[in-house]
Amino acid sequence: MIDFKDELVAKSNRINDELKKYLKKDECPEKILNEAVEYSLMAGGKRIRPVLIMSTYELFKSDVERVLPFAVAMEMVHTFSLIHDDLPGIDNDDYRRGKLTNHKKYNEATAILAGDNLLNNAYNLILNDINNNDDCKLEKIQSLKELSDGIDRMIAGEYVDTEFEGKEISNQYLEYMHENKTGALIKASVRIGAIMAGADEESINKLTTYAEKIGLAFQVKDDILSEIGDSKELGKPVGNDRERGKCTYTTKYGLEEAQKMLKEITEDAVNIISSFDNGDFLKELALYIANRNK
Ligand code: IPE
Ligand code: IPE
Ligand code: MG
Ligand code: MG
Repeated sequence: MIDFKDELVAKSNRINDELKKYLKKDECPEKILNEAVEYSLMAGGKRIRPVLIMSTYELFKSDVERVLPFAVAMEMVHTFSLIHDDLPGIDNDDYRRGKLTNHKKYNEATAILAGDNLLNNAYNLILNDINNNDDCKLEKIQSLKELSDGIDRMIAGEYVDTEFEGKEISNQYLEYMHENKTGALIKASVRIGAIMAGADEESINKLTTYAEKIGLAFQVKDDILSEIGDSKELGKPVGNDRERGKCTYTTKYGLEEAQKMLKEITEDAVNIISSFDNGDFLKELALYIANRNK
């Protein structure tokens, strides 16, 4: 049996190889913009969202290359969200993925446009795939809609996050913020994998609940790491949420309670995915999300 960590590395390497195919290297007036895109995209993210697309698809089918355009597009969208999240007008952070943030390395205008470029190229590459290949057109259009809805929710969540900076936030709003800013793209990733594989409705519903659980767990863990993580290992700052008066699961409930909640949500996710015959990898992934240090 293949080890979880090895499989995770193999999958993220596959994504990295695929992402490289979309980098623009030609001489042109916007060469620096293309460099800025590559700088953040290839800075070594965990690739959790594309891995989710691939591994959910593999619950049902083995020809995983079919979902690679969506896997690449999702990572582009996620990287766009990080570049903009770090901007002075949002979180004003200096480090991301172990390197200077995009606006620190280049400048604000370049970072804004690098984000825009990634968002647009994500749509563009999927539309090219739909145009150039005749297979699964309906599934691809449904998946594109999932991606687009996920982006809409992520942006809504980011707005709520900035709006509530320095203010007290209700439990419901805190959950709403997490569900959207982080949960939405994670949910879209799982649903895209299932839709592309032609999964039945019952499986899609179960997987959606699994995704909602790991999406919330992911951000609760992000909040915990923002308090007690190691900034070197994380590749981004620690303590910045509290400094900025952000309301997070740890500032709201305390570290111990947040850890307890994380454990419970993860157990729910594990129980749901255990009903799938070959759900071992996704089960391990839920545990990895809860136990990660980066
Ligand atoms: C960080 O996401 C931002 C959140 C949505 C919590 P990741 O932790 O997946 O970041 P990378 O892609 O590994 O850098
Ligand atoms: C990031 O949320 C969520 C998105 C980029 C959509 P955070 O601001 O909490 O994440 P980090 O800690 O900067 O990665
Ligand atoms: Mg933020
Ligand atoms: Mg941030």
